[in-house]
Amino acid sequence: MYTLDQLKSLEAQFGSPMYLFREEDFINNYKEFVACFNKHYTKYQLSYSYKTNYTPYICKLVKSLGGYAEVVSDMECGVALTVGYEPEHIVYNGPFKGELGEKCLLEGGLVNVDNLEELKGVCKLAHEHQDKKIEIGIRVNINIGQSFISRFGIDMDCDDLQKAFDMVSEVENLEVVGLHCHVGQSRTVEAWSNRAKIMLGLADKYFPNKAPKYIDMGSGMFARMEESLAKQFGDNIPTFEDYAAAVAIPFAEHYKHLSQEDKPMLLTEPGTTVINSYIDFIGKVRGIKHIKGRDFVVLNCSKDNLGDICKMKKIPLQIVHVNEEQEILKDAEFTGYTCLEHDVMYPDYNGSLGVGDYVIFGNVGGYSNVSKPPFIFWNSPMIAKKADGSLSVMKKGETFEDIFATYII
Ligand SMILES: Cc1ncc(COP(=O)(O)O)c(C=O)c1O
Repeated sequence: MYTLDQLKSLEAQFGSPMYLFREEDFINNYKEFVACFNKHYTKYQLSYSYKTNYTPYICKLVKSLGGYAEVVSDMECGVALTVGYEPEHIVYNGPFKGELGEKCLLEGGLVNVDNLEELKGVCKLAHEHQDKKIEIGIRVNINIGQSFISRFGIDMDCDDLQKAFDMVSEVENLEVVGLHCHVGQSRTVEAWSNRAKIMLGLADKYFPNKAPKYIDMGSGMFARMEESLAKQFGDNIPTFEDYAAAVAIPFAEHYKHLSQEDKPMLLTEPGTTVINSYIDFIGKVRGIKHIKGRDFVVLNCSKDNLGDICKMKKIPLQIVHVNEEQEILKDAEFTGYTCLEHDVMYPDYNGSLGVGDYVIFGNVGGYSNVSKPPFIFWNSPMIAKKADGSLSVMKKGETFEDIFATYII
């Protein structure tokens, strides 16, 4: 919870609005998450999903905590290399790999091939580099009972997966050493038990003589979150311990006969799970309007600062009044600076509010600053609050020049 003095001091130093990253809470959550998996399977490795929030400050922090980088484009891979990752600690996924994908392939990265066309290119690369041994993973398209057909990976339910292994076996210096999956919108423990069962079955089928070097399970878990938000997802949100038990225990059991060296590395790729709850957005009330019997609050920010979560759920909200001048609002919409009718950050607010009050939105760590378009206005600064209470700028507030640098004027 923020106090008025803290908020005034932040505003005096960095302006308004801003993102605030609670570093100590992030680190504690991160360590607890890893410990849950390590407890059951000591060859567990976290690979942080850059797309969720590739702010270099956070990526560096993850690196210092021992996490790998999970990237899906040369842009993201560039961040990983810039913050000091060696390719061997970069997991390169996705259907759109670029030149840095080749660099990772040639320099020991964990590159997971998404489709047969991409695999043809990898085979060609291997032919061109006969002196190198190239190792790859394959993203498999699995069915864990989800309600949609995923477009990613190579289908395990037709000939394509066998075809992929056959293609690789024809190239002497190329080997499949890993399996990868990721299924979105499936965050239940049952979905994770199914993932584990299917992936272990595939590992047995396609690696009959020696276990793969790694099995990467993607992500898709609920983060820890404030009760007000958790309730909107239902009653029983699984804990990290629940997920770890659903995955790491079957892995430990399945590979108990193998030495530590021969056991596959178990990876997961958390994004929202580790970052969501630890970035807040602090805005201010610009005005309060009453139109045809409805209450509207105008803020100095937009839904675009917060990401899609605010369209789907009522995100955690703290109001800090700046003085005694408030009015009582009924079912008020917190609206943004864009000219879109649907720029709503929070619906149905009931309570007191005054112009100038601080409005703090929680749970905006994922798909927020990285998804912010330069629509109508540039983005706000990001500040890290460190464990010792000191503050550090992670991203400067954008300027006219930042947005228009690539336009020819
Ligand atoms: C391949 C892959 N890995 C990891 C993630 C991160 O998942 P989550 O945010 O649920 O942890 C995503 C998200 O879409 C993804 O596509």
